[in-house]
Amino acid sequence: MNHTSDRRTFAIISHPDAGKTTLTEKLLYFGGAIHLAGEVKARGQNRRARSDWMKIEQQRGISVTSSVMTFEKDGLTFNLLDTPGHEDFSEDTYRTLTAVDSAVMVIDAARGIEAQTRKLFEVCRLRSVPIITFVNKVDREGRPPFELLDEIADMLQLDVCPMSWPVGMGSDFEGVYDLHANTLSQPEGPSREFMGRAIPFDGMDDPKLAATITSAGLATLKDESELAMGGYASFDVEAYRAGDLTPVYFGSALKDFGVAELIAALGQHAPGPRPQPAEPAAVTPERPDVTGFIFKVQANMDPNHRDRIAFMRLCSGTFKRGMKLTPTGHGKPIAIHSPILFFAQNRELADEAFPGDIIGIPNHGTLRVGDTMSERADVRFTGLPNFAPEILRRVALKDPTKTKQLRKALDDMAEEGVTQVFYPEIGSNLIIGVVGQLQLEVLLSRLDAEYKVDAGLEMAPYDTARWVSAEDPADLKAFMDLNRSSMAKDRDANPVYMAKTAWDVGYVSDRYPKVKFAATRER
Ligand code: G4P
Repeated sequence: MNHTSDRRTFAIISHPDAGKTTLTEKLLYFGGAIHLAGEVKARGQNRRARSDWMKIEQQRGISVTSSVMTFEKDGLTFNLLDTPGHEDFSEDTYRTLTAVDSAVMVIDAARGIEAQTRKLFEVCRLRSVPIITFVNKVDREGRPPFELLDEIADMLQLDVCPMSWPVGMGSDFEGVYDLHANTLSQPEGPSREFMGRAIPFDGMDDPKLAATITSAGLATLKDESELAMGGYASFDVEAYRAGDLTPVYFGSALKDFGVAELIAALGQHAPGPRPQPAEPAAVTPERPDVTGFIFKVQANMDPNHRDRIAFMRLCSGTFKRGMKLTPTGHGKPIAIHSPILFFAQNRELADEAFPGDIIGIPNHGTLRVGDTMSERADVRFTGLPNFAPEILRRVALKDPTKTKQLRKALDDMAEEGVTQVFYPEIGSNLIIGVVGQLQLEVLLSRLDAEYKVDAGLEMAPYDTARWVSAEDPADLKAFMDLNRSSMAKDRDANPVYMAKTAWDVGYVSDRYPKVKFAATRER
């Protein structure tokens, strides 16, 4: 059977507090993957109780790890990739977004587009990832729908197409009207939730509708929806899939409004596995042999086992358990005997997986973020960059006998993409680099909890790092020889220029026009 069109691999992007956790839980609940709302949070707490290093997650109330949840509905398999929500984790999040075919953008109806939503949106735009918008919390007082739609259109430069419309918000909330199916989801009972029975009408002039909602509600709904249908783009699946138009659903994750519609929209409109950028040519899901790439590595998911899981996005072929795949650059094929598919409640052993699926591969450090895995070793996926760190620190070890453990820990975390590590050409102090402040806290907490290494961080004599290269190796060598005190190697032994100030980067790049100074390095 051809499974290339029945996978929906997506992520939810949002600003903290917009309702991502609640919506995730409801999607899994409606998708039949969990049986009680509340399990996602409960699961999170269990996990926290078991795992020391997630203390930070607990303290800061943010999600540091990203996981994969799979559910099946109406003959489709949905793979939901959870992205860490905090702004400091943009690098990790970026990589997760390289592994999805579409995204759901959750916006708080009272707040509109917030900083983190916007950042994550920009990442999606880089790869033309199609976006469905969910305006959440319409059961509470929010901003007028027109204001929200215009904000999305203006700030994100996207065509917007309202698919549903809220009948009032907050204390005036009377439900959500589906503009295409002409159905109304109404709040019921003391909790004012949606109980799952959408009422069908013959359009807004149906007398039944007038008997169902208040006359004020109906008048506003008619006026607003007429304006909305005339004033915004109509739905065009091609424009959506090209990332130029976003269909907008109004709803309430907490009270179940709009959740079923969102799943249906993902099923109907969201693309299945998209071709992935690669060399020598993009890989389409129809390609018969197995290819995939590692977008995340997570160590010590279970503190009792020093295993690490590499998360692979399958891009083509039918993966079968026991199959041998070759990681790029390592040469040796490895047999994958115990792949893991991530279902909501437990890890299950995967026998087969298809393009769009995510497979967890337990390993002892062989697999790295950015690795291509393939049967024939004749392809390399591109576009998983390393970002130049914005914060550099020198690691000071309190107990000098722990040097080996420290190196191991830093290497592990560099491999996971938590931090980057640089080895200066002169001197023995390791320099670590991160994109955001919070990663430093994660680093220290994990050094202590997992590796029993007591270390502190000191200011580094550098402010920024650039990967250097040149067409003629002689030019690069000349530059490196003259700047030895500012040179370091990254974990893969690539040369890195450590600059004292950003100004220095400009200065040296003017002086050495044949040398390229890159702020990202593609793996
Ligand atoms: P996040 O993962 O995006 O950070 O958001 P999360 O789902 O944790 O939701 C943030 C807060 O917003 C939670 O309240 C949650 O209950 C609430 N919320 C989410 N969706 C809706 C909605 O549709 N309507 C309303 N009215 N509230 C919503 P909290 O008080 O911070 O957490 P909790 O103690 O209630 O769990």
